[in-house]
Amino acid sequence: MKEKLDLTNIPKHLAIIMDGNGRWAKKKGAMRIFGHRHAIQAVKDAIEGADNLGIKYLTLFSFSTENWSRPQDEVRALMELLVKTIIDEISLMMKNNIRLISIGDVSSLPGSAHEKLLEAQRQTETNTGLTVILALSYSGKWELTQAAKRIAQKVSEGKLKPEEITQQTIADHLETAGIPDPELMIRTSGEYRISNFLLWQSAYTELYFTPILWPDFRIEHLYAAIEDYQKRERRFGKTGEQVKS
Ligand code: IPE
Ligand code: IPE
Ligand code: MG
Repeated sequence: MKEKLDLTNIPKHLAIIMDGNGRWAKKKGAMRIFGHRHAIQAVKDAIEGADNLGIKYLTLFSFSTENWSRPQDEVRALMELLVKTIIDEISLMMKNNIRLISIGDVSSLPGSAHEKLLEAQRQTETNTGLTVILALSYSGKWELTQAAKRIAQKVSEGKLKPEEITQQTIADHLETAGIPDPELMIRTSGEYRISNFLLWQSAYTELYFTPILWPDFRIEHLYAAIEDYQKRERRFGKTGEQVKS
């Protein structure tokens, strides 16, 4: 599968909406959390696949702002799973030179999850390989609102004039400042929506939807998505003739 790919045309940044854990569990007659537990192998496959291909940034939509309104037991179990996974995987991340960062309102996570996350970020911060970006308590609208507040603050302090605000100013005040926009976004579970993920950054992102439920997602599914991406012509508003020349 990997052999079919053009290694000179790999996205720098891949974003994934990891969806379908609950339905996967339901199909097995199990509780939703059973699906979340089985999602970990899929996360590991996605990281390994991204690393193998030389992708620089992998953003994983792990918990949205809106997910706080799920049943309390599920939220609690997801947070515990986050802590456990970080503890279990830290040595492998160090071995593979992987840097872990996060985007989102992470200070709203329970204390233990927040602490573990920051600790893992500190531990991996000088790693120079793949950067894994966990989107936690994240949503695009939340992020844009935060950016608007930060920019307004600078204007009110006289550090910035309204007429000086450009698209770059906004990009620089997002959680993803300094990170290139994703070229490709994958969503599993057969849903065709963005669900408030990377709204600004996905303006020209190629979208790939697969019916696979996230716990079943494996490295070959990631390679298949990249293969599909490589067949596309990214025009950015220009004509096909213009981008070919
Ligand atoms: C994705 O799976 C995981 C999170 C959103 C945390 P879901 O839990 O949304 O699974 P479905 O969509 O109900 O099947
Ligand atoms: C999107 O999945 C959020 C994550 C994958 C973390 P949801 O399951 O929350 O999205 P909707 O509610 O189906 O749009
Ligand atoms: Mg879902």
